[in-house]
Amino acid sequence: MAALIFDKIDSLLEEIKNAHVSDAKELEQWRIRFLGTKNIIKPLFAEIRNIPGDQRKEFGQRLNLLKQTAESQYQRLQSSLEGGQDSSIRQDLDLTLPPGSLQLGSRHPVTLVMEHMIDIFSRIGFAVAEDREIEDDWHNFTAMNTPEHHPARDMQDTFYLKGSKEYLLRTHTSSVQARVMTTQKPPIRIIAPGRVFRNETISARSHCQFHQVEGLYIDIGVSFADMKQTLQFFAREMYGSNTKIRLRPSYFPFTEPSAEMDVWLGTETATAKKLTKGTGWLEVLGCGMVDPNVLSNCGIDPDVYSGFAFGIGIERSAMQKYDISDIRLLFENDVRFLNQFTSVL
Ligand code: PHE
Repeated sequence: MAALIFDKIDSLLEEIKNAHVSDAKELEQWRIRFLGTKNIIKPLFAEIRNIPGDQRKEFGQRLNLLKQTAESQYQRLQSSLEGGQDSSIRQDLDLTLPPGSLQLGSRHPVTLVMEHMIDIFSRIGFAVAEDREIEDDWHNFTAMNTPEHHPARDMQDTFYLKGSKEYLLRTHTSSVQARVMTTQKPPIRIIAPGRVFRNETISARSHCQFHQVEGLYIDIGVSFADMKQTLQFFAREMYGSNTKIRLRPSYFPFTEPSAEMDVWLGTETATAKKLTKGTGWLEVLGCGMVDPNVLSNCGIDPDVYSGFAFGIGIERSAMQKYDISDIRLLFENDVRFLNQFTSVL
């Protein structure tokens, strides 16, 4: 008989310790059961008559413990409902502990190279100009002296917005040249980093999105020699002080004369070989003297001012610098790839 009552006390104690309520109504039911005027513990005190004398002391102690536990548990349940969280968690919270270290992210290789280029040009007085990726036909093509039937305007090359002949994803950062020239007066000396889009088949060497850093310098008496010096300075800062460059004649509608600049990488590493198609020369940018038509399209007098412009491709330089042999890795955002740049600043 006595053993049965002790068991009952034990199981009630267990029940009280494991108590859980999810709202005020449940809490009130719980209070009535264990602490109300007709609570379940009270009648047990009367059972003392049936307990053998030598166990009465222990019986009394256990019952008192049961009652006290019910009281303190009620307080806990009450405050956990008010605080909206388990009070046991709050008791464990030590606010004086130093916080765990934050997990650091990493900068994308394209960002790293772009920032390096911005840093180089800002040292010689170029300011950063940024503009929209969704551009209108005028800033991307017309102002840039690209005639109406030029193949670059073809749907095959350009992503037009759905149902639009007017709005498109900019195909080059040269659109920022038009944005700047129509809003600023010379002297103008800017670089415009950003993303561009072309409808190209995705492969290890080309992608439908990539990044460029555009440069534009307009003032009185700017010459081709100024351009060459600027680009040589850039190449030596970017690729090393002994870097060889070469300018090849080329064609762009918005520059005259136009050129493409290559830097010598050699053919020693597999990546260099692949990136240079075995020639050793990496094509890094297009450039030229701003066509007088572009200046007048944008409201700048070509009889007074002249200037040069260039557009540098970012991805190839990033691939060269970090020995990446497939451009697609730069856009897939695979953390196993990106994590490798955590320690690069
Ligand atoms: N916009 C050209 C391209 O995307 C690059 C360029 C910029 C060439 C400025 C000349 C001057 O290929």
